[in-house]
Amino acid sequence: AGCRLMYFPETGSTNIDAKKAAEEGAPEGTLVVTDCQNTGRGRRGRSWASPKGCNLYFTLLLRPDCKPEQACMLTLVMALAAAEAVEELGINAGIKWPNDIVAHGKKVCGILTEMSAEPDYIHYVVIGCGINVNQMDFPEEIRATATSLALEKGERITRSALLLSIMEHFEKAYDKFRETWDLTALLPAYHSYLLNKDARVRVLDPKGEFCGTARGINEAGELLVEKEDGELARVYAGEVSVRGV
Ligand code: BTN
Repeated sequence: AGCRLMYFPETGSTNIDAKKAAEEGAPEGTLVVTDCQNTGRGRRGRSWASPKGCNLYFTLLLRPDCKPEQACMLTLVMALAAAEAVEELGINAGIKWPNDIVAHGKKVCGILTEMSAEPDYIHYVVIGCGINVNQMDFPEEIRATATSLALEKGERITRSALLLSIMEHFEKAYDKFRETWDLTALLPAYHSYLLNKDARVRVLDPKGEFCGTARGINEAGELLVEKEDGELARVYAGEVSVRGV
């Protein structure tokens, strides 16, 4: 992965650039990287603050030969790769299911996966990743919940080396994912980073909300939440938000 590199000093959003490249026929493994995004986007329609010169913003284009439901799990594969790379820097990393990377309780990385697909055929998947690397100050609104790797480690981190490490980890994890087109081979590694395991969580989904105990994920990437009555609910990442209680 990451064998074809497109670098922009500044852009709107690398997810948009990667989708455009995909429409123009760019191959699997194309990686779009920028130093600054003017319209960086996060999940749930939010924006992703993307200041210049300190962080990593990149999007990987894939053309997996699987079903759309299976390709959704790629976002967890990227989360695992990012967590492994962060851990290698000597910073304790955790994954807040499905795909936020957290260091010492604060978010350092977010992932936004988008897809163009028919019910049985995937045109392409783009996996966008934003990592707060050397940012030393955060706006008031997110200061309590966001941090950077440099703040947590107490020294500057070389972005290119981190990106290379994430791509190496992703490539290995993607190979394992492709053995079965699910997370079977990656479950132990993912669970070793999973936060909130065996903790009380509140699940907010479109049909209402319930509390339970998070027990881990299954090979489809669904969060397993044990309800009060002992029933194990499978929570699908696309529709819910999970909070610790
Ligand atoms: C989240 O809300 O946690 C996901 C944030 C994803 C941000 C990355 S930065 C690179 C890529 N381009 C975007 O516009 N968004 C993603």
